[in-house]
Amino acid sequence: MALQINYKTNSSKNISSNLVLFVDEKFNISGLKKNISSSELSYISDLLKNSDLKKDLLVFKINSKKTIFLVSIKKDIKTSDIENLGAKFHGYINYNKKSEYFVNSDTVNSKIKNFAGYFLHGIKLKSYEFNIYKSKKDKKLVSINVVGSKNKLSSQDQLRFKALEEGTFLARDLVSEPGNILHPDEYAKRINSLKKFGLKINIYDQKKLKKLGMNALLGVGQGSIRGSYLVTMEWNGAKNNSKPLAFVGKGVCFDTGGISLKPAKFMEDMTYDMAGSATVVGLMKNLAVRKAKINAVGVVGLVENMPGGNAQRPGDIVKSYSGKTIEILNTDAEGRLVLADAITFTEKKYKPKFMVDLATLTGAIIVSLGSEYAGLFSNDDKLSNQLITAGNKVDEKLWRMPLHKNFDKLIESKNADMQNINYVGGAGSTTAAQFLQRFVLNKTPWAHLDIAGMAFSKYGGALNSGGATGYGVRLLNKLIEDNYE
Ligand code: BES
Ligand code: MN
Ligand code: ZN
Repeated sequence: MALQINYKTNSSKNISSNLVLFVDEKFNISGLKKNISSSELSYISDLLKNSDLKKDLLVFKINSKKTIFLVSIKKDIKTSDIENLGAKFHGYINYNKKSEYFVNSDTVNSKIKNFAGYFLHGIKLKSYEFNIYKSKKDKKLVSINVVGSKNKLSSQDQLRFKALEEGTFLARDLVSEPGNILHPDEYAKRINSLKKFGLKINIYDQKKLKKLGMNALLGVGQGSIRGSYLVTMEWNGAKNNSKPLAFVGKGVCFDTGGISLKPAKFMEDMTYDMAGSATVVGLMKNLAVRKAKINAVGVVGLVENMPGGNAQRPGDIVKSYSGKTIEILNTDAEGRLVLADAITFTEKKYKPKFMVDLATLTGAIIVSLGSEYAGLFSNDDKLSNQLITAGNKVDEKLWRMPLHKNFDKLIESKNADMQNINYVGGAGSTTAAQFLQRFVLNKTPWAHLDIAGMAFSKYGGALNSGGATGYGVRLLNKLIEDNYE
């Protein structure tokens, strides 16, 4: 099903197809008078007497052509609640198979500016499906016409929602692509095509990375027939030369584990091991599409972790871009190796205001937080609190986990400056974060989001119908919008 949203100017009085109207929490329908006929109004008011008003979406079938949906906008409703109502309404669209809907936002007042916009945003986010490899596609087109004159979305606000949808959908597309299609060579090309939105893209290929000394990243990709890359995306939307906000992503296009091979069962899930980078790419597209008035940079490390004749061995020692040496005791702890070089590089080259990295880094974070929260590790309380607040607002929640110097002993190595896994056991996600922290060399405020449990949803969530979630694009957009614009 494809979904199209059109903004129109007419009222909804004479509309004979499906109509969505907003009411207050008491389902007071006096505000509907101007927008539906008097017979419809009395029909609804009769039925309302017997309805369960605890519900927030009521459905009234007027005739075979017309159904009226009443959506309650409670006094203390949050924007994420309205998005969820939109997603719920998407369930009706899917089920009813009608092709045209009207939404009229005139019928209620709310403290929330653009409440109808959030409702439509929820519909749109929930409607995403990844079907490019299905021979038989559902070709149905559903159009939603937004009518009414009050509570209208400005074109600026329309653009903000659209940009966020496009950014989220790009992240979902990238995560959904299988490993044979979206390998590092192809991924670098796709990022390069974002130039057309005004992003400045720089691709560092193997030769350049070798010269720079990014051996931690390169070691992970050396068993693959594909190249390894570091790609930077710069958005300069501020009027001045202010320090950029930096976002760094793990882009392991497929993680077999390498010579420390993963078990067969569920190995196919490791096609989403580049989700951290996909979030960064989606976020950068969103910023460019809506021409955000900030400076930001996205940095992603793209590799494929394969076994093979040239693959990295357990016991190998590599010298990272920072100069620090790492003993690789398990080639499956590869994400931290890619991020180590990407983090040091980002800090050194861009001297950012802060760095946020995102990665499907550890299975252990799924043990801790399941699919409710991503793990947050940070050296900075202010940045942490801004992230947590932004996450709560868009319902992409974060839970702060500890970093502490006492964990350092777990990654002390006999032969190098550190080892890439903890042999003692326990605190798997913190060990990984503690490892990453060693590559922040100049005390830049830094946060690491372990999104292993959030990037992919087997059964679907509030705003997605299963599969890639695009987790983090909306969260980081909110962080920027509320604190840095
Ligand atoms: N990509 C995995 C982590 C992961 C697991 C992501 C499940 C999503 C779902 C990561 O590269 C990995 O293999 N981590 C190991 C680390 C271990 C070898 C120290 C893990 O979590 O088991
Ligand atoms: Mn791994
Ligand atoms: Zn991995």
